[in-house]
Amino acid sequence: MFDFVSTKENVERWNISQKRASVLCGKNRNNCEIMVANNHNSVLKPFVKWAGGKGQIVRELEKMLPINGEKDLTKYCEPMVGGGALFFNILSKYDFEEMYIGDINAELINAYQVIKRNIDSLIEKLQEMQTFFWRIDKNGRKLYYYSVRENFNTTSLCETTAIDKAADFIFLNRTCFNGLYRVNKHGQFNVPMGEYKKPKICDFENLRNVHKALQNATIVCGDYSLSKKFIDKNTFVYFDPPYRPLSKTSSFISYTSDIFDDDAQRRLAKFVDEINKIGAKFVLSNSDPKNVNFDDTFFDELYKEYEIKRISASRMINSKAANRGKINELLICN
Ligand SMILES: C[S@@+](CC[C@H](N)C(=O)[O-])C[C@H]1O[C@@H](n2cnc3c(N)ncnc32)[C@H](O)[C@@H]1O
Repeated sequence: MFDFVSTKENVERWNISQKRASVLCGKNRNNCEIMVANNHNSVLKPFVKWAGGKGQIVRELEKMLPINGEKDLTKYCEPMVGGGALFFNILSKYDFEEMYIGDINAELINAYQVIKRNIDSLIEKLQEMQTFFWRIDKNGRKLYYYSVRENFNTTSLCETTAIDKAADFIFLNRTCFNGLYRVNKHGQFNVPMGEYKKPKICDFENLRNVHKALQNATIVCGDYSLSKKFIDKNTFVYFDPPYRPLSKTSSFISYTSDIFDDDAQRRLAKFVDEINKIGAKFVLSNSDPKNVNFDDTFFDELYKEYEIKRISASRMINSKAANRGKINELLICN
């Protein structure tokens, strides 16, 4: 479907710069009517808030995309997708022939799969939860929140529980403290309730748009290495692994009960080498250890074959909110 919209509208709607909008305007620059091709005709947003989510640096990441470049990139792959800040941004603007998203977090991937396949039942359940939650008082909310959390932690994920578990997962993400997904060493979700007046538990418009957009995507639960079968020379791959902690006091975020330590970062770098040999284009992001120790060259050495950019982002260096500030993030690409 094609839309005719003004430059100003495009800047806001597609989250693109004035310059890019002008380039797209081409010869029509003066009357600023441009055409944006988009099959979904909607701006998509992550349906969960996710620790390490890349909402803040999406613009920078987008600039590095080799789209419209010399290569014919027809496939998009994000094998550690989390909340998918870049993925949804890309889906709103570009059409890829094939898409692959994956993550090792089974509950997260179940939610993606249920949105793809069972959107009506999911929306019905979330709408019920929202109506009920908005009506009850603080004590009632606490009782309800902790009973959903208990149920979520004690029910195993299988075909018959998939829709309920996806609804509980989204409910907990929308109502928990800071919208943070964190599990203990037994893999149990352990975040306390947050204090929101009217949390939007059922954003049905976005969920429906995400549902449509996911019809074309392969969704895989498991290690990023499973994506190798999908990747070829026409694929753009974005890797966003768990951050390497910036300091010993950095708040450690556990998305699963497995830890992503330095050996895991080295294993990922080997995988990146393999897909580079295949001829795929990639971007990988991580925290810059030089923020706290200028002599720490861990990533500079690990990715010395590739281009390494440092961009500024605001993030907490350690658990104290007062230490939130501008720090560098690494963007590595081939
Ligand atoms: C920094 S987060 C990604 C955030 C995402 N870019 C966003 O915008 O929300 C890292 C993700 O990697 C996933 N992960 C950790 N180890 C993994 C592995 N071995 N294979 C695939 N995914 C993994 C985590 O579950 C988490 O969702």
